[in-house]
Parts: sequence; C-alpha cells; structure tokens
Amino acid sequence: MIQKFSIVVLSLFLFACNDSKTESTDSDITTENQKPEKEDENVVNNHSYSNIDEINTTHLHLNFDIDFDNKKIKGVARHKMNNTGVEVAIFDVQGLDIQKVTLGEDKEVETTYKIGKEDKLLGAPLKVDIEQNTSMINIYYETTEESQALDWLDPALTGSKKHPFLYTQGQAILTRTWIPTQDTPENRITYSADVKVPSELLALMSANNPTEKNESGEYSFKMNQPIPSYLIALAVGELEYAQLGEKSGVYAEPYMIDAAASEFQDIPKMMDAAQELYGEYLWDMYDVIVLPHSFPFGGMENPRLTFATPTLIAGDRSLVSVIAHELAHSWSGNLVTNATWDDFWLNEGFTVYFENRIMEKIYGKEVANMLALIEFQELEKSIDKMMSEGHNEDTHLKLNLDERNPDDGMTDVAYVKGAFFLKTLEKEVGREKFDAFLREYFNAHQFETLTSESFIEYLNKNLLEKENIDFNVEEWIYGDGIPDNVVKITSDRFVKIKNLADKIKNGDKIPSDLKREDKTTQEWLAFIRHFQGDLDKEKMIAIDKQLNFRNSGNSEIMSEWFILGINNGYTDLRPDIKKFVVKVGRRKFLAPIYTALSKPENNSVEWAKEVYAEARPNYHAISFNTVDEILKDSE
Ligand code: BES
Ligand code: ZN
Repeated sequence: MIQKFSIVVLSLFLFACNDSKTESTDSDITTENQKPEKEDENVVNNHSYSNIDEINTTHLHLNFDIDFDNKKIKGVARHKMNNTGVEVAIFDVQGLDIQKVTLGEDKEVETTYKIGKEDKLLGAPLKVDIEQNTSMINIYYETTEESQALDWLDPALTGSKKHPFLYTQGQAILTRTWIPTQDTPENRITYSADVKVPSELLALMSANNPTEKNESGEYSFKMNQPIPSYLIALAVGELEYAQLGEKSGVYAEPYMIDAAASEFQDIPKMMDAAQELYGEYLWDMYDVIVLPHSFPFGGMENPRLTFATPTLIAGDRSLVSVIAHELAHSWSGNLVTNATWDDFWLNEGFTVYFENRIMEKIYGKEVANMLALIEFQELEKSIDKMMSEGHNEDTHLKLNLDERNPDDGMTDVAYVKGAFFLKTLEKEVGREKFDAFLREYFNAHQFETLTSESFIEYLNKNLLEKENIDFNVEEWIYGDGIPDNVVKITSDRFVKIKNLADKIKNGDKIPSDLKREDKTTQEWLAFIRHFQGDLDKEKMIAIDKQLNFRNSGNSEIMSEWFILGINNGYTDLRPDIKKFVVKVGRRKFLAPIYTALSKPENNSVEWAKEVYAEARPNYHAISFNTVDEILKDSE
C-alpha cells in the first residue's frame, strides 16, 4: 500500500516538473490548471490521445543508448509525419522524461510542447507545436522508473548470473512508456533503430536481427513492413543464436540454447503448415527468443522475433502450441490487426483458431482436439464466473473497454469464444470454403486494421451471402455467453483419463505401470481438473510418488497440481510452490496460484505474503500489478 502511494506521488511530482519545463519554453501555452480542458476530446479510439486523423507517423527512427547502470534508455525518437496541415501533433507518453522536441530533418529547430494531465491508465498527451508543413518531429527523452514496458534484470535473474538483461513488452498500451508514440493499433509505421549496448551483450528487435555480437556494441535495425506501435520490441542480453530452418531460428541465453533449439525444432514445419493454410509468410524471418523467467506471458508475437517464456522448455516439446500460436499471429494480429482493443478477439480468437489448425496439421486431429477441449472447458468456467458476477458484457466478443485497462480484455472470451466462433462457422460452411475465405481475408486486409463491424461486413459479403448461409453472427459477436450452435468437441482419450480419475477418487490405486510420459500434458490437466479441486492429501502424495507432478518440469502440470494441493491442504508442496513462484514470472501461472493461496479457507495467506515479498522483485510490472491486486483483495 505504502509503496503504491509513493509511486502515485512520485509520478505527480514528475509531471508537475514536466509542465513547468514546457511552460518556461512557451509562455503562450496555458497549463492544465489555468485552462481546464477535457483530455478525452483527444482520444481517437478508446486508449490513445493521438490525433492520427490529422497527422500521423509513417516512419519512426530510434536512436538510443541502453544504460544498464542507471536502468535508463536515453535517446531520440524521430517521427516522419504525414501532416494534413495541422499545427499540433499529439503523441502518447507515460513515465517518460521529455527533454526537448525539435522539428526538421537536416536542420533541427527546437519547438514548444505541452504535456497534458496524467491519466493513471493512459498516461498523458504530448502536444507538440508544429507548422502546417512540418513533416519531421524529433522527441529527445529518457525513460524512468515508471516505464512499465521495461524489465531491467540484474545479473542474478539471468541464467548465467553474469550479465544484466533488458526486454520490453509493448502490448497493449505500454509502448508509450518507453517510446513517445501515437500509441494506437490504428496507425501503422515502419521503423528503424540505432542502438548502443554494452559490448558484451547482444541487442535484438522486432526487426532484422544480427546473429552475433560485435565489439562496438552498436546495432542497427530495420522493420520495413508497417506495424502497429505495440509491436515495437527490444531485448538485450547475453544471447546466442541457433538456426532451425532456412528462415527460422532461436535465441537464448547460452545455458539454454541447446535445449531451446531442440524444444523448438518443429518451427520450420510449423511455418510450412501455416503458409499452406493461409498464404505466404510476409515477414522474411521467424525467430524466437527465450527470455529470462520474469517474462510475464507465454509468448508475445513481436514480428520476426517472438518473445517466449522459458517455461515452454519442458524437455519433451509438449508446450510448443504456444509457438504455433505466436507464429499464427504473423497473419492474425500482425498482418491484419484489431483497430481498437475492443476488437481484440480479431487478433486472439483468429490466432487460437489458426494455432489449432497448425497443431492439427503437424500432430494430428486427436492432439488438436484435446487442446481445443481443454480450452473450451476453461472458457465455460470463465463465462460462468463472469455471468454469476453480473459481468455479462465481458462475455461479448466485441468489448467496451472505455476507461478500462485493455488488459482486461485478455480473457478466454477473446481467445476461446473467438476461436469457437470460427470453428462453428467452419463446420457450417465446410472446411474448404472456410479456408479459402480466410486466405482471402488475410490477403485482402494485409497491413490493415479492422473493427469487428468491418469484419462482419466482409464476412457477410464474401462468405455468408455468397454461399447463402444463415448464421447467428450478431449473437456470437454481441451476445452473452456461448451460443447454442457451438461445435461440440469430444475426445476418447479424455473420457479414459476421466474414468481413471474417478476410480482413484473412489479408492483405487493408480496402475503401477502408468508413467507420466504415457499421457499428454492436456490429458494430465484434464486428470487433475477432474478432481474438481477435491482430492485428499494422501492420494495426492501417492500420485506424486509415482508421477512426480510436483517436480515434473512441465509448468502447466505443475501449476495445476499446486492449485489442487493448495485447495486440499497438501502443504508438503510448499517448498516446490515457493521455488516455482520465486522463479517464474508468467502471470498465467501466478494469478491462479496466488488466488488459491489467498482464499481464507486455505489458511495460506500469511505464507503467500512471505513468499511474495521475496518473489515480487523478480516479476515484470504486468505480473506484480496483478498479484498486488490479488493479495490486496484478500485483506
Ligand atoms: N499477444 C498475446 C499476449 C498479450 C495479449 C500481451 C494482450 C499483452 C496484452 C500473446 O499472443 C498470447 O496470447 N500469449 C498467450 C499464449 C497463447 C498460447 C494463449 C500467453 O502468454 O499465455
Ligand atoms: Zn495471442
């Protein structure tokens, strides 16, 4: 609590400084206090202040130094603008120290600017005074401790423990915390960058990348395909590269590089499968970087360079569907992009559908069905919860995230309801026609953004009306819950594993020859979940003895098992749980574990807080913000 409060005070202080600085450079401009103005007037969509309809960035050139000693990026963002003839350009900024703004390319002239009122969620508008013919705006700045996109890792948090590490996370609205930009997915830009890092480290971006370090520590990047700002990304660390295919490879810290290359060896096959399905891969290379454990997500689809959590390295390739997912974003999301965060399902629902098709093509229908079925069960649970709490509108594919954090849209609804909408459509029209439709959809809208409404129009015209098909599209996109016509998925292997779980629950012993490798991750998850949170401690101990879930190296199984254990008083698991949450920063695992620990009936709140005190410094802001809330709510 105290800490949060001081962050607020600190940021108020920083912004007060900013205002006075700008005032001194331009006495004509009134401060917020003198002329109250509604900042909302400038919000072009729900989460950006930028005035892209009047003036928008077309190319961004970044030039910066990465200062690990002070944990700061210092540099300049040079925006090439398409100006319709206006005299103010508005950028989004949050947690940045703006030093000066100049206009012009060859000859730079300093100009005045004003930073508007800070909104906790959106940051503030940076309003730069320009001329009607201005086409180049250079913003000199430094990042601060409030730059939430940045995760600066001390050497202790890396594999080798020798060198520091830095990576960024832009989606959804965090790019503005490390680069002053028009931070809306509606605007696409190309970018280039000159980056200087300590010479023992390698710098990589969502752009063309080096495969080796150089002595100068200076790296140049180019992203020639136009992308939304949330896909600009940077990682700096002690990294090695292993090539996997002609156009693909993996970066990781040296200790992990062989394991990563082996875990992800199917990437070339995945690329072939994806291209066969929905058309040519348009980003040249597809590499993956395995980040340190604090990375808050499973994966992030930064173009040409997927960011991935090391928890995917299970040793048996059992979690590679996350890579299929991030690869699929090269079409859904990166090529055809949600116009606003309310349309997030256009990114994620399409991607989960596409991911499943890639998995089916490589590993077969049975595996793909198990993946989809597990997801569907999670969706049903999430939707039940939302409805029972009266949040029916959160179960809509098209969301309304005004005044809310776009991260709130990151639920099973966008992902799985979205995917099942497409699966259901596929069943209705037939796979062949549906695939042809999708291929043309990606082709017709490449490097564009789309709203749900423009998607519906396109769908009606190019598929439903053409094929004379009646489909409840509106109900799927604007209605509550899961429509009745949803496709039903079945899996014999799931039936078998559930029968086994039932028998164990009723007193049977686990077959003594059963080994963990006999079943897939999804089967084990279904097995654990079938106990519905209820399995006595003695049985859990017996299962662990034989199958060693608690120390399985498979993070999906471990976290599911930990949650069951927390709910059933299997406190012997505590050392393993602690080890896991102190090391792993992936929010998907942390949130349910801390939620289970904070339930009063589980008598673990105090212990959770103790562990969290140790673990929190290891997490990215995205994760510790979530866990802060969970533990605060338990008070
Ligand atoms: N693009 C998302 C991650 C994201 C979404 C970050 C919204 C910030 C805001 C990424 O593609 C994703 O969905 N990752 C999932 C894995 C996937 C297999 C469901 C994750 O990290 O769990
Ligand atoms: Zn995704």
